[in-house]
Amino acid sequence: MFLFWGIYLVWIALVIFGPRWNLSILLQFIGSPMGMGGFGAWMGAHVPRGLQLLVFFFLPLCGWLFGHGIRTWITLKKYQRALDHLGLKTPTGLSPKVVRAVELENKRRRILVHAVGIDVASFRDKKGALESSFNAILQDVRVTPSNRQMIEILVSDRELPTLVRFDDRSENLRNPYTFLVGETMDGFVTADLCEIHHMLVAGATGGGKSVFFKQALVGILKTSKHIQLYLVDLKRGVEFKVFDALDNVVLAKDEPAALSVLQAVAVEMDRRFRFLEDKGFNEISPERDGLDRIVVAIDEASELFILSNSSKEGKRLAQEARETADKIAKLGRAAGIHLILATQKVVKETIDTRVQTNINAKMCFRVNTIASSMTVLNNKKAADLPKINGRGIWSVGSTDLVVQVPYLDAEGIAEEVESLTVKFNGDASPLKQKMLELTAPKNEQPNNLIVSSEENVMSGKDEVES
Ligand SMILES: Nc1ncnc2c1ncn2[C@@H]1O[C@H](COP(=O)(O)OP(=O)(O)O)[C@@H](O)[C@H]1O
Ligand SMILES: [Mg+2]
Repeated sequence: MFLFWGIYLVWIALVIFGPRWNLSILLQFIGSPMGMGGFGAWMGAHVPRGLQLLVFFFLPLCGWLFGHGIRTWITLKKYQRALDHLGLKTPTGLSPKVVRAVELENKRRRILVHAVGIDVASFRDKKGALESSFNAILQDVRVTPSNRQMIEILVSDRELPTLVRFDDRSENLRNPYTFLVGETMDGFVTADLCEIHHMLVAGATGGGKSVFFKQALVGILKTSKHIQLYLVDLKRGVEFKVFDALDNVVLAKDEPAALSVLQAVAVEMDRRFRFLEDKGFNEISPERDGLDRIVVAIDEASELFILSNSSKEGKRLAQEARETADKIAKLGRAAGIHLILATQKVVKETIDTRVQTNINAKMCFRVNTIASSMTVLNNKKAADLPKINGRGIWSVGSTDLVVQVPYLDAEGIAEEVESLTVKFNGDASPLKQKMLELTAPKNEQPNNLIVSSEENVMSGKDEVES
């Protein structure tokens, strides 16, 4: 806007003070068709040039500034009244003051509030009242990083869609090892397994964990070549059975099988660390090292990690599974080994806090209690989510985004897997190494078969080009 006024000033100054052109001629030219050419001539002859500049530049500028000020004032008043309805006050009677309202793209507005002595949580607690007061959807409330007395309220006129179809968004699957995360107010989001490393999917039953989980796996399989998938599904494989048709997928359906999968991956991880040490590399690169990325995906991980009413043997199995998953979460990143856990219960006993701290990316669907939301996200955003299937909070580092995740139904998954068999099954498989050999859990079988197959695995599949 200021650029516009700047250009206008230069132009009008040239017209008024310029040697050949002057305002009188211009006004005569514009005015003559309307029969007002004489006014232009009179103006040129009688009005000093300074006054002409005042009339033709400064008056419109002042008018615009005044109008702009009035508009801003009315907007601030409107938001202030809306905020006053919430009745937020300090014990000393100080109430929050709206200082600025900025229009953003995508029908969003940022409202800056000067709130001395008022906790940001008291704004969040009044989400419903705030939305009805502002007549908009609340996206976020946070303290501004530069000033702890300022609170930033983000509202939007637009609601997220309640259904996002995988097929409509699959064109976003471009780079290797990426998958779809979902639609946010800021646009569509994808994630890169190499950047996030591990992921936790949490939320109450029926929120959409398994659907999200499966579409993420389809995404990773579609975009990647050198990938091995180890799936654990203790619901006897019902959720993931469809993936079993792929040669680069191993499905574990019971606790002993799950533990042997985890142990085989842990052994492979140790082997990869020795390899990295020998070569002096920082991390595995599939192309260079002739190794595949490995994804260990566990649905309903709590079923594996706490075995209720179980025997001594069952408890030992659970304990060991947890410890191994913990190790993979802690060390897997450099070894090209990724852990994806989905769980309904996130408490200390299911997903160890140590495992949690090593998982940077979280997708949390609606949870029933604030405490659960706090455990996963460290805030109550997941408890505040509307009851919409597939609506969740995507949290990476300190950024939380509300997303509507893509929906891929059972038929869609079956079709995708069918087309993936062409890529992964048979001689044309792009894998760099053989699938890991599984044994019975280590404690039950002292001679671990995996160790004996080490050479074999190390050499990779050299007949396949990268
Ligand atoms: N992204 C989504 N979009 C729309 N509906 C969904 C979505 N995800 C899940 N649903 C619906 O919710 C149901 C439960 O999803 P599911 O993934 O099995 O939940 P969970 O594993 O969390 O118990 C699905 O059968 C489906 O009808
Ligand atoms: Mg599920």
